[in-house]
Amino acid sequence: MNRNALDQTARSILQKNDRGGYTVPTDRLYPYQWNWDSAFVSLGFAGDDRARAWQELFLLVEGQWDDGMIPHIIFRQDDPDYFPGPSVWNTPAGKYPTGGISQPPVLTSVVTDLVDSGDETDLAYAKKLFDQLYRWHTWWHHARTPEGSSLIATVHPWETGRDNCPDWDLGLDRMTASTDLPPYTRRDTSHVDPSMRPSDAQYDKYLTIVMAGRAVDWDQKRLTNEGPFAMYCPGLIFILHRADKDLKRLAHRIGKTAEADQLAAWIAATEADLDRIWNPDFKAFCARDVRSGAFADGFSNASPLCFYAHAGTQDQLLATLDHVHRISHKVGHLMPSWDPDHPAFESKRYWCGPLWPQMNFLLWKGLVEHHQTYLAHRTQNDLARAIEASGFWECFDPTDGSGCVGTDFSWTAALWLAWLSPSRKKAAA
Ligand code: GLC
Repeated sequence: MNRNALDQTARSILQKNDRGGYTVPTDRLYPYQWNWDSAFVSLGFAGDDRARAWQELFLLVEGQWDDGMIPHIIFRQDDPDYFPGPSVWNTPAGKYPTGGISQPPVLTSVVTDLVDSGDETDLAYAKKLFDQLYRWHTWWHHARTPEGSSLIATVHPWETGRDNCPDWDLGLDRMTASTDLPPYTRRDTSHVDPSMRPSDAQYDKYLTIVMAGRAVDWDQKRLTNEGPFAMYCPGLIFILHRADKDLKRLAHRIGKTAEADQLAAWIAATEADLDRIWNPDFKAFCARDVRSGAFADGFSNASPLCFYAHAGTQDQLLATLDHVHRISHKVGHLMPSWDPDHPAFESKRYWCGPLWPQMNFLLWKGLVEHHQTYLAHRTQNDLARAIEASGFWECFDPTDGSGCVGTDFSWTAALWLAWLSPSRKKAAA
């Protein structure tokens, strides 16, 4: 398909997935508002319609909990075709029912991107969102930091946005699935090819963690300290670190001095503790099980987000680049979500191999900011080629660029418009 036609298709996908001010990731498979999806989608609207871009974000923060968490899903209406829906999560009553965990806080950095590429109106919108964003950052640094750690951990693979990445096998292997799970029917595998989705055994464990959240009435600090699963995710840590820095810049600009000081303290504490996720044997930032201390032993597409976060020593950054170069020779399309040299690599199964558009975008930003021109070009151009050849899929097989899992996907369309299309307008560059 030629590039102008792709612009039109991308716009029509966003329109089709628009549910009146917020956008679903794709019809049927994901029929609600998802947290980091909406942040990326906002960038897609920003080139044509700034007000609509901000509306997406304002509707997302409507889901914020009293404790400050902005949840991963907002269930504005019940859709029996999705599992696990609001009755399974059973979270405390708020404006809308929501999921009980969060998702990577790209939202903050999207807000500051819109301010940087915009005008006074954008700054006014950002000011309105500031307090809610700050409360969310406070929540991460309090509710998700295990005893003695300045790095945040996660309680559920879904919170990382990288659902079934082999990174989580360590934590999942340590837990046992509850034997009292109510009988359930997965809906995801009736919408898409089951061989591209997580396994049933993994699903039982995902639900066991949901039940553990319910058992502590969604007290998030307790879930972090006592829940069945606790792992450090380089993706979450690096995305929050970047977001802390971006929010600090915004805080200074709008005169929120005390908040800027607190953000500076979190930034320094994260930097001082970063070796906690440096795997010295594998020489990369890796996921790590909080309780056993064991490291994951493969390179995921979250590992190199140290560039996006501007974190790590020169030696750590150089070793990370060596991994990316190694992998760049193994696949036709950078950046696979899991290491092609690892036995758990599967080129079409969700987070076990496929390339993910939003992860490429974050990686590309970090590489550009570090003047890594060749690899930056690969992360951008390899994805553009896959979209041109296959369309707007949820993710892509990194070996041949064919599309995987969901079709007509919102973040793929949005990032095409904001970042990949030759005719893109200022929003994300
Ligand atoms: C899947 C993805 C997650 C995404 C969601 C909606 O769960 O792993 O990252 O936010 O789908 O697109």
